[in-house]
Amino acid sequence: MHFLITAGPTREPLDPVRFLSNRSSGKMGYALAAAALGQGHAVTLISGPVALAAPEGAIVHRVETAQQMWEATRTACLSQPPPEISIHAAAVSDYRPAKFQSQKIKKGPGSLAIELQPTPDVLGAMRGEFGFRGLLVGFAAETENLVVQAQEKLRRKECDLVVANDVGRDDIGFDGDDNAVTLCFPSGETEDLPKQTKRALAADIIQRCVALARQKQH
Ligand code: CTP
Repeated sequence: MHFLITAGPTREPLDPVRFLSNRSSGKMGYALAAAALGQGHAVTLISGPVALAAPEGAIVHRVETAQQMWEATRTACLSQPPPEISIHAAAVSDYRPAKFQSQKIKKGPGSLAIELQPTPDVLGAMRGEFGFRGLLVGFAAETENLVVQAQEKLRRKECDLVVANDVGRDDIGFDGDDNAVTLCFPSGETEDLPKQTKRALAADIIQRCVALARQKQH
């Protein structure tokens, strides 16, 4: 099978030296890419800025902004044949500065307000704008009401599976090597995958994705 995987944060520039970003390390997305390659699949990896080596054998597109991630994902979806499974592990910035200041912003005496505008939703564009018909997997990073929020995302973005992550817990999450997740399915069913290494978790998620994609094809 051919996997499309997004990973890492995005960076939304404010001026030549500053940007808005988040704590994503990219480890989960890269572990998924490595696991898919290890299980004999092809991988196109669309990655925000991370300090990780590209998994050997993946086609890697490096991007900075949410807009660039949206465009690279669109191109990958429209390629022939299109990927069969698309996993969206990237922590895409939801907002970007409304205006890029071409000169460095200088400090002044008072407070400074920065106006933000929404970025395009990559996962939300998959079914409609990009016409993706394969297995669609989203991630939900939540600090409260994990399953309810994840199920809402699953329906709104027309996913086949949402991998929900409790980022309020301090023993797992963004920069660590371990993770624990809850799988949320369109039927409303959920399944907890207990705390383990991101590598082990990734191998399990990839196997499940392949099984679900085969079911969907038949
Ligand atoms: N996502 C995306 N493009 C965006 C925002 C999110 O592709 N601009 C994807 C993420 O990769 C993830 C899923 O959508 O798979 C959930 O992201 P999240 O930011 O938690 O969802 P939102 O719908 O933006 O909701 P909120 O931030 O309010 O929780």
